[in-house]
Amino acid sequence: MPTAAVIGSQWGDEGKGKVIDYLAARADMVVRAQGGNNAGHTVVIDGKKYALQLIPSGVLRPGTVNIIAGGVVFDAAGFFGEIARFEEDGIDTSRIYVSDRAHLVLPYHKELDRLIEESKGAQGLGTTKKGIGPCYTDKAARTGLRVCDMLRPDAFREKLAARTAAANEQIVKLYGGEPLDVAKVVDEYAGYAERLAPRVRDTGVLVHEAIRSGKKVLFEGAQGTMLDLDNGTYPYVTSSHPVSGGFTIGAGVGPAAIGEVVGIVKAYTTRVGAGPFVTELTDATGDLIRERGHEFGTVTGRPRRCGWFDGVVVRYSVRLNGTTGIALMLLDVLDAFDEIALCTHYSHNGDTIEHFPADLELLAACEPVYKKLPGWKTDISGCTRYDELPAEAKAYVEAIEEISGVPVKIVSVGPNRAQTIVRSEIL
Ligand code: GDP
Ligand code: IMO
Ligand code: MG
Repeated sequence: MPTAAVIGSQWGDEGKGKVIDYLAARADMVVRAQGGNNAGHTVVIDGKKYALQLIPSGVLRPGTVNIIAGGVVFDAAGFFGEIARFEEDGIDTSRIYVSDRAHLVLPYHKELDRLIEESKGAQGLGTTKKGIGPCYTDKAARTGLRVCDMLRPDAFREKLAARTAAANEQIVKLYGGEPLDVAKVVDEYAGYAERLAPRVRDTGVLVHEAIRSGKKVLFEGAQGTMLDLDNGTYPYVTSSHPVSGGFTIGAGVGPAAIGEVVGIVKAYTTRVGAGPFVTELTDATGDLIRERGHEFGTVTGRPRRCGWFDGVVVRYSVRLNGTTGIALMLLDVLDAFDEIALCTHYSHNGDTIEHFPADLELLAACEPVYKKLPGWKTDISGCTRYDELPAEAKAYVEAIEEISGVPVKIVSVGPNRAQTIVRSEIL
């Protein structure tokens, strides 16, 4: 089946956008199915950087149909901002469709996200403040508004006014915030509703028809496995399901509709926001990774926490996602190191921990156990074939295959399309 899911195997920002853009050269359709504009996917074309948040990374390939499916939480204001930026750059945005089932991120979700984070002070999760948690909360509480609601203008105005007024109670009484101007919110969103209407579809039907007729479909993950609501480092997670299983619910397809599962793996590890991180390096080595990898958030600009490759995380991710192949990203960032460490397992009070634990206290007490490999100390960013890589770099790739139990099918040695080594074709 010519379909592939591209998922983040760590804490997000692994380079999903680059791989989607690369594979989208051959794809007919790219589908986002969870998360919202907390995602920041970067694609670099001829040295120009494009930041994608809600819009699937297939948009930069002319002819691709791009779907924002029902599991996404949809921020209309953010969406039209993104559309405007692409149009300024002369990118065709006509083939972007939005599910009628997607939940709406509304101004009060963003305000609540900010106030809840602030009220937690140092105990905050470090969210992107895009309203993601509060929106999924409304969805689970069955009080959310969906894109299909926008298509009934009078009822939409009424529902939105009622929801915003109810949220104002929380904003003011619980968090001491400023109430939102209900009439202003309603007018703004009535405007978005009108503009969005031509793009609204039952996207489950579009995806199903594409798969049934043998088209090549890519499912674009956002965030990463360790941020998964059920499987990640709870509560330091996002509120959606970034694992491959998330596509079945979020895009409305059966599990058999997903052919390959490409696990995007950074050659080291990063994380933005709070929460445990066993292989984190808070020393000069961590700083050098951050500097060489330009590890600053696309969405919030925050410096990303950096550390060595964590094999416990990646093995866990392979198991949860059913990963069939890895795309190993940012290998060139490690060009400068004399020695490179890979964590093979954790040690806890003298016991070996092979499987990622649920208990964060136990996790915090885990020590990484490293295998050390010599660095290659060579610029690999111009390599286009696997056999051009220095022997030490190939040994590093092969160590990751051994630790994860999955073949590395793509090796990325720079942000540009051409800096991609394909060892085994996907899609
Ligand atoms: P995503 O959220 O998973 O799509 O990843 P981000 O776009 O947030 O972060 C990945 C960053 O690494 C982006 O700035 C990419 O342009 C960049 N990038 C991707 N692949 C490579 C690579 O192989 N080498 C280098 N140096 N940068 C890369
Ligand atoms: P992409 O798709 C990295 C993190 C936030 C925070 C936690 C919860 O670019 O890989 P949220 O706003 O979702 O409620 O924040 O999740 N987070 C990400 N970290 N990459 C992302 O997306 C992320 N999306 C959310 O930093 O720790
Ligand atoms: Mg990102």
